[in-house]
Amino acid sequence: MYKYQIIGEKKLRGEVIISGSKNAALALLAASLLAKGKTVLHNVPDLKDIRTMLELIEELGVEYKFEKNRLELDTSIIKTHKAPYEMVKTMRASIYVLGPLLARVGKAEVSLPGGCAIGPRPVDLHIEAMKKLGAKIKINQGFINASAEKLAGTEVFLNKVSVGATANILMASVLAKGTTVIKNAALEPEIEELIHFLNKMGAKIKGENTDTLYIKGVNKLSSVKNYTVIPDRIETATLLIAAIITKSLITLKNTLAAHIHSLINILQEMGVELSVTDKKIKIKKINNLQPVYIKTLPYPGFPTDIHPLIAVLLCEVKGISVINETIFENRFGYVPELKRMGADIQIDDHIVIIRGVDHLQGATVMASDLRSGAALVLAALGAKKETLIDRIYHIDRGYEGLENKLTKLGAKIKRLNTKQY
Ligand code: EPZ
Repeated sequence: MYKYQIIGEKKLRGEVIISGSKNAALALLAASLLAKGKTVLHNVPDLKDIRTMLELIEELGVEYKFEKNRLELDTSIIKTHKAPYEMVKTMRASIYVLGPLLARVGKAEVSLPGGCAIGPRPVDLHIEAMKKLGAKIKINQGFINASAEKLAGTEVFLNKVSVGATANILMASVLAKGTTVIKNAALEPEIEELIHFLNKMGAKIKGENTDTLYIKGVNKLSSVKNYTVIPDRIETATLLIAAIITKSLITLKNTLAAHIHSLINILQEMGVELSVTDKKIKIKKINNLQPVYIKTLPYPGFPTDIHPLIAVLLCEVKGISVINETIFENRFGYVPELKRMGADIQIDDHIVIIRGVDHLQGATVMASDLRSGAALVLAALGAKKETLIDRIYHIDRGYEGLENKLTKLGAKIKRLNTKQY
């Protein structure tokens, strides 16, 4: 087990290159199962969740070579349709293999994902949609057993906006007989990326960037030989807020500001002056920051993943700020830890009320999930003195070399083996 040791209040300077999108890459790895042949993906972030997904698809029969963010997949053979519990329990995105396996081999046995720290995170929308596409589904002993001779296109209305369910339906319907219409589809950039990739494979999907998607089933898809994954918008948000918390004027490169428009707007409303080009974000000036009201919403609204990150910044902004979390039941793991660092922060149902204090103080804290862990890193960077963060395996799931990037920018952050304590 490892901890982070961070000495706060160090100014950051220079520029940082944003890695590829974890959540986009996870969907593309699953989508590659839909065709036989060699897929080559560039800008794939080397982080735990990607490694877990690679272990899972290797278990299914895929061979891969992954070095320096270049991933080569050979999906010629699928030797089993079973996604084992040991793998699925550590990563909810394993459910992404359900649609592709049904489409390619006509059956799938995927363990129901366990809950996780940010809420129960059911997969009922995924299961109902597969049934509507003609799959027979039985749930027993914690497994989803699905089978379908041939999926048949239909209309699916998602009564809740769901990134994962939209992705699974897209991947199941591209090889179905006839046309599928997804209504109330998610609009996240990761979904647009998946649609773009599937169409490169030969799928016929229309309606991207809208909440109604039309998928005309085809007989066969081909592997994509050369594809570059979009930048990670949540890593962009993380490093942007790291700079603002330490009052540093840095530049983020190889990123797409358009994918975090809602955050850019909020930061500008708070008094941060940014210069934004298509691939770069430069912090020009940090004025006296103002408190804000934030409501998390499906894209293009304010992303739930950025809620814990912006909350840390608001803890040191004079006045009262409010965050209304509407997506996940328990996005609040970071709150008690920030209180230990001196934050004046309360939760009332799914509303977080923050009263700004002068400074957070370093303390010993613990990560409870990926984005809460990242929030604690941000808090430590801005806090006085030393902070120790335990259970940083949560952070390793979703960030590629976070401490290296921060160290290069001038932060004082070390990864300690807990045996040293
Ligand atoms: C994706 O999770 C992301 N994960 C999450 O990022 C992100 O927070 C989330 O979308 C929202 O943007 C990946 O892309 C791998 P949802 P997903 O289905 O697909 C409920 C991170 O930190 N729901 O859009 O699981 C669900 O409980 C992760 O990188 C159902 O009720 O999220 C939630 O309240 C964390 N039934 C809401 O919908 C279902 O069948 C939105 O969830 C599915 C979801």
